[in-house]
Amino acid sequence: MSGPNTDYDPVEVSTLQPEEVEAARDAALAAFAAAGDLEQLKQARLEHAGDRSPLALANREIGALPPQARKEAGQRLGQARGAVNQALAARQAVLEAEHEERMLVEETVDVTVPTDRLPLGARHPITTGSELIADIFVAMGWEVAEGPVIEAEWLNFDALNLGPDHPARTMQDTFWTSPAEDHLVLRTHTSPVQARTMLTREPPIYVVCPGRVFRTDEYDATHSPMFHQVEGLAIDEGISMAHLKGTLDHFATAMFGEGITTRFRPSYFPFTEPSAEVDLVCFVCRGSGLDESGADTCRTCRGEGWIEWGGCGVVNPRVLVACGVDPERYSGFAFGMGIDRTLMFRHGLEDLRALFEGDVRFTTAFGSEL
Ligand code: DAH
Repeated sequence: MSGPNTDYDPVEVSTLQPEEVEAARDAALAAFAAAGDLEQLKQARLEHAGDRSPLALANREIGALPPQARKEAGQRLGQARGAVNQALAARQAVLEAEHEERMLVEETVDVTVPTDRLPLGARHPITTGSELIADIFVAMGWEVAEGPVIEAEWLNFDALNLGPDHPARTMQDTFWTSPAEDHLVLRTHTSPVQARTMLTREPPIYVVCPGRVFRTDEYDATHSPMFHQVEGLAIDEGISMAHLKGTLDHFATAMFGEGITTRFRPSYFPFTEPSAEVDLVCFVCRGSGLDESGADTCRTCRGEGWIEWGGCGVVNPRVLVACGVDPERYSGFAFGMGIDRTLMFRHGLEDLRALFEGDVRFTTAFGSEL
């Protein structure tokens, strides 16, 4: 008599054996747990839960079992596949959340990060240098005065005791404007601002006047037809050469550092009497005249130990009179320095032209500050 194959032994279908199913499930769970990102999880999914995974293949074998064996095998497999799918979904959720979090951090846009798409300019060293000089004097209670660059011949020369026939007029190679009858010049120095100040204000006067000046000089590494000076003028009762020396020593130290003072050498300017050239202790070798090795001469002062800085003196009483100041009651001192020169020493510039070419790479190198 024939009947259903009740003797069929499901154990013969090895992939459906409990240990095999458990092993396939455990391998799947381990692979999901080990997946570090969504891409690895995808690989693990294809391998352990895809159509060709051991559990999917085992599932196909169920049909070959006798009916009474199918149920048990089906349940076992169903549980295993359920556990695998659950673990897969759980791991997927965790990795997706992690991914999301990472994207939020990595793709954050910091709107405060500086961008160089619109390059920032820098203030010109002559501007910041002039301001620094002005600040040094303002801190002592002085004021800043200004005058025009197209100046009356009389203020540029005559008021300063440089009469029409004065030989010193030819010392300053002047740009004259036309027509000559206007008697206007491009100012050759900032000294006319002294005259303007005395003519318009009552002493005591303490002013610094930074500004642009012009001379018919060649344009080379140390000369320019346009450059900058700073003028100083103090008019008060009892002012002497000693006040001048103390003021310039303070100016030098504030500008170049402790220990950098000045010396005076006798000189001549029509607007001061007595007059002096001011030298600065070389701030590189600090007066030794030697370079860093001690074996060679200092390049900045060429071994002198001193650097020429400007001119100065006690204001000539003739200038006081021309500008309406009573020389019986008041006396004063004045000085004038090249700002460009001062910045050249301060920054070790070899070529004056760098200050005038307007190359932003140069100005940016100084930054906005000195
Ligand atoms: N004005 C002079 C020049 O341009 C510099 C100068 C010298 C200014 C002596 C002064 C001074 O006020 O007292 O060369």
